[in-house]
Amino acid sequence: MRIFIDTGSVAEVEEIAQWGVLAGATTNPSLLAKEDGDPGEIVKRICELVGGPVSAEVISDDAKGMIEEGRALRELHEHVTVKVPFSEAGLEAAHALTSDGIPVNMTLVFSPSQALLAASAGATYVSCFMGRLDDISIDSVAVVGEIVEAFRAGGVTSQIIAASIRHPEHVVAAAKLGCEIATVPAKVLRQMLNHPLTTAGAAKFKADWETRPEFAEWLKGLVEARAAAQAG
Ligand code: G3P
Repeated sequence: MRIFIDTGSVAEVEEIAQWGVLAGATTNPSLLAKEDGDPGEIVKRICELVGGPVSAEVISDDAKGMIEEGRALRELHEHVTVKVPFSEAGLEAAHALTSDGIPVNMTLVFSPSQALLAASAGATYVSCFMGRLDDISIDSVAVVGEIVEAFRAGGVTSQIIAASIRHPEHVVAAAKLGCEIATVPAKVLRQMLNHPLTTAGAAKFKADWETRPEFAEWLKGLVEARAAAQAG
């Protein structure tokens, strides 16, 4: 499963892209509305930082407006994927945009039947919102599991994005279910780093090494010798 970052913040992408774990990003109007600066410049910078698909969302309610916005958003950067909210107009727009070769991420999908329509309209990606389902006491793991099963059984090639991720367990569940992608907020990505045994283990390795000061000198010498060899 590939990991995307779900954010409108360039600073968050700059931080987390350095980890080497990001394959793409998703933005949405709510996330971009929290940021200062030009949204187009933000999307372009995120495209450069992640070097993979970056979803930018249309806002019109009608298909014609969505198609025009989608074409314009796509021209911002070659990595832009046009995010289209699920609706009748959204399906029409997704079909038109993908027929033109523009990748589409159909968003706000909450059921297997919606997911099948999105895929049939040609959506490259189908975003199923886990956290918002859990918020209304619908088992998001069961719903995403049904979508994965339905897509696999029918040979559907649209990729499933697990979205509205609220905690690391959502990410693990999405991977186990076979989602191609999880789009994860920076806060949750940072939570995924942590395990008390990792922290304790690293502290113990360091403390044990420091009982032998000559070892620190040896390692420093090894690094310096290599740097000297490369310089010469
Ligand atoms: O990008 C769409 C989605 O991930 C939003 O998540 O937390 O606002 O439900 P959330």
